Amino acid sequence: MKKIRLKNKQIDYPILIGSNIYKDIGLICKKYLEKNRVFIVCDNVVYDLYKKVLQNSFKKANVECIFIAITVSEKKKNIITVASLSSKIISHGVDRKDTIVAFGGGILGDIVGFTASIILRGLNYIQIPTTLLSQVDSSVGGKTGVNNIYGKNLLGSFYQPRLVVIDTNVLKTLPRRELLAGYAEIIKYGIIKDAKFFDWLQINGKKVIDGNTNARIYAIHRSCINKSQIVEADEKEHGARALLNLGHTFGHAIESLNNYKKDIIHGEAVSIGITIAAKLSYVEGYIDKKTYYKIENHFNDIGLQISLPKNLKKITAKKFVSEMIKDKKTVNKEITLILIEKLGKAFIHKKYSHSKLLKLFKEITS
Ligand SMILES: NC(=O)c1ccc[n+]([C@@H]2O[C@H](COP(=O)([O-])OP(=O)(O)OC[C@H]3O[C@@H](n4cnc5c(N)ncnc54)[C@H](O)[C@@H]3O)[C@@H](O)[C@H]2O)c1
Ligand SMILES: [Zn+2]
Repeated sequence: MKKIRLKNKQIDYPILIGSNIYKDIGLICKKYLEKNRVFIVCDNVVYDLYKKVLQNSFKKANVECIFIAITVSEKKKNIITVASLSSKIISHGVDRKDTIVAFGGGILGDIVGFTASIILRGLNYIQIPTTLLSQVDSSVGGKTGVNNIYGKNLLGSFYQPRLVVIDTNVLKTLPRRELLAGYAEIIKYGIIKDAKFFDWLQINGKKVIDGNTNARIYAIHRSCINKSQIVEADEKEHGARALLNLGHTFGHAIESLNNYKKDIIHGEAVSIGITIAAKLSYVEGYIDKKTYYKIENHFNDIGLQISLPKNLKKITAKKFVSEMIKDKKTVNKEITLILIEKLGKAFIHKKYSHSKLLKLFKEITS
């Protein structure tokens, strides 16, 4: 099992990565509990698939577990779900020594982390991510939250888990489409921070998608190292953490304009968003044509979508730009974008020109 320690002055927790470790998950988690009880909040899909193995494992460790299964979707990633989940947990009579386990993908993890951060002003929580996206990104770093009618992830908190446990075996039941969506966030690290990793992905990316365990462990480990380093340096996103948003200002606008329908899931929107950011970086002269095509070709080779779907092509450029203004990085209506300087290095571009964005969207829509 590989271990990363996310550590700075305020934060300190391990990220464990291995395969076939659920049978011991009870014992692994027990070390981080303050009493022998956990609330395991999971989405309905993983509940049906993995309840038994988790239940047996916690039983073996002599830890009582209370399962709460909920339905997750971007539409239900909202404050109403947080309120009802909180009530379900509180109804069992919680105290500050209780621990909540988030067992599921990124939507579930974001909802549960946020809920944990507000019950009794903060209960301990553990992340056991079950999608590739949540294993390489959302379970690490403590960003929790839900959507609001005005936009994506607009309500939330920075609230770090006590432990993250990643088992690649769980990816065997994950649909290919979800694997691809998670892969978009993996490429992100290669582009913003780790050119060598990008090179590795060009050779081994397909193995990650196709189920090679060693390739998966390597890619997840390397992604979590990159993410941890960024979070250690800038937990609350005062600076460098914003680089993780590469493609997301576009991606979130796409998700929101699509009304969070399931025909475009988060990783797919991010994949389109990263290629738009790469295009803009090329048009602006920050990267050369060769680098731009290297990025775009890798998305294509892996089978990720890189252009706007038909229904969104009908949306006006003006609407896209006004949607992007709702981004959390916007200050005084001025849009901040993450652009690429070279492979392995991105930068924060503040006050990006609205008229340039309008021009870009006019080109890629209609
Ligand atoms: N907090 C952060 O730092 C951060 C970072 C990136 C993304 N996110 C958020 O993550 C969310 C996307 O997460 P996601 O892509 O994991 O989506 P998700 O949580 O919707 O999971 C995808 C689907 O896979 C199913 N599933 C989960 N694990 C499975 C398994 N092992 N086998 C079979 N099916 C399984 C789920 O039921 C769901 O239908 C977005 O809301 C995004 O905003 C947060
Ligand atoms: Zn993302």
